[in-house]
Amino acid sequence: MSLYDDAVAISERAYAPYSRFLVGAAVRARDGRVFLGTNVENASYSLGVCAERAAITTAVAEGVRPSDVEEIAITASPCGGCRQWLVEFGFDRVTYKNNDGEVVTATPAELLPDTFEL
Ligand code: THU
Repeated sequence: MSLYDDAVAISERAYAPYSRFLVGAAVRARDGRVFLGTNVENASYSLGVCAERAAITTAVAEGVRPSDVEEIAITASPCGGCRQWLVEFGFDRVTYKNNDGEVVTATPAELLPDTFEL
């Protein structure tokens, strides 16, 4: 099973009663560990969490740091805020389903050029 398949499988657990848009994400660390996440919505809409941020957050809680991540797969095109997270964590590549329904791979820099850095 590919990392993208892992993201599709976990998307079924998304909590998205408001949008009904289920998203799954899978992070692979360089040591081979895989961390999964889904979007989690809330009645106070702006408090919802995206799937890729959930997966990255789980990885961090398990000790993963930006230089430790290799790739991420997402069942949707990452939103602008998540693109900033993808840059921060320095993934080698990002595989996602684009708005034409194709599964494509890009670098974080391709997804977010001229990134804000502190
Ligand atoms: N969503 C994600 O989980 N990741 C993205 O990058 C795009 C948007 C979620 C947030 C919300 O729960 C739903 O998709 C509809 O916007």
